[in-house]
Amino acid sequence: MFQRLRALFGKAPATPLQTPDTDNIPQHIAIIMDGNGRWAKSRGLPRMAGHHSGMKAVKRITMAADRLGVKYLTLYAFSTENWKRPKAEVEFLMKLPQEFLAIELNELIEKNVQVRMMGYKEALPSHTLDAVEEAVRQTANNTGLVLNFALNYGSRKEMIEAVRQIGEAVQTGALNPQDIDESHMAGRLLSAGMPDPDLLIRTSGELRLSNFMLWQLAYSEMWFTDVYWPEFTDEHFYNAVREYQRRARRYGGV
Ligand code: FPP
Repeated sequence: MFQRLRALFGKAPATPLQTPDTDNIPQHIAIIMDGNGRWAKSRGLPRMAGHHSGMKAVKRITMAADRLGVKYLTLYAFSTENWKRPKAEVEFLMKLPQEFLAIELNELIEKNVQVRMMGYKEALPSHTLDAVEEAVRQTANNTGLVLNFALNYGSRKEMIEAVRQIGEAVQTGALNPQDIDESHMAGRLLSAGMPDPDLLIRTSGELRLSNFMLWQLAYSEMWFTDVYWPEFTDEHFYNAVREYQRRARRYGGV
């Protein structure tokens, strides 16, 4: 049938986007945006072109998450290990938040999006930090989607810092070691105050966590795709959410 239509009209008929069930939208989606470099290489372009195109995918998927009614979207934009990349690439990546916000902040404000940053501020260049902090400040009272950029973020460092703070509280007598429970860790992580991700998406075919939200992802559903981040579309995003909706979350129960 499709072959006959294709022969008649020259191309495949467009299939409508399969939108997820609006009743069971994940509250928090975290994404490891991977494959910018390979996407660029596959097109004979420099790696930076891949990152730039990845920035456009950030806009696309932010809007898709907003439309679906996702409450938190956490995007892994730069890890504590990414400093090992060539200097020119690090510099380019550090300019992207600024460029993204210069173009998109007004629309994010219009859409009631709240921008947050999760990561270590110390090492960030001031032009990057200033742009992000300005967006955080301007959107602080917004009540819609929380767009949380993991920027200079590393989960092991985050957990070490939390353990250090707990150790200090024990040392001063403010905390009894017998009373330590999950809330003492969770409350000292950079994600404190946010629910754990319900769904983790990683693009580009890699099947690992790369030091991303190791504590918080303990019971998250995971969805991996071979698609490179710059070509990740609304349709892929919806497919991930629809797959999430088919899963039974048991949290160790039956
Ligand atoms: C990993 O893929 C990706 C990154 C280290 C950077 C991700 C950054 C963006 C998608 C843009 C961020 C935009 C904003 C607005 C903060 P890779 O480039 O290492 O890909 P590869 O594994 O194919 O080389």
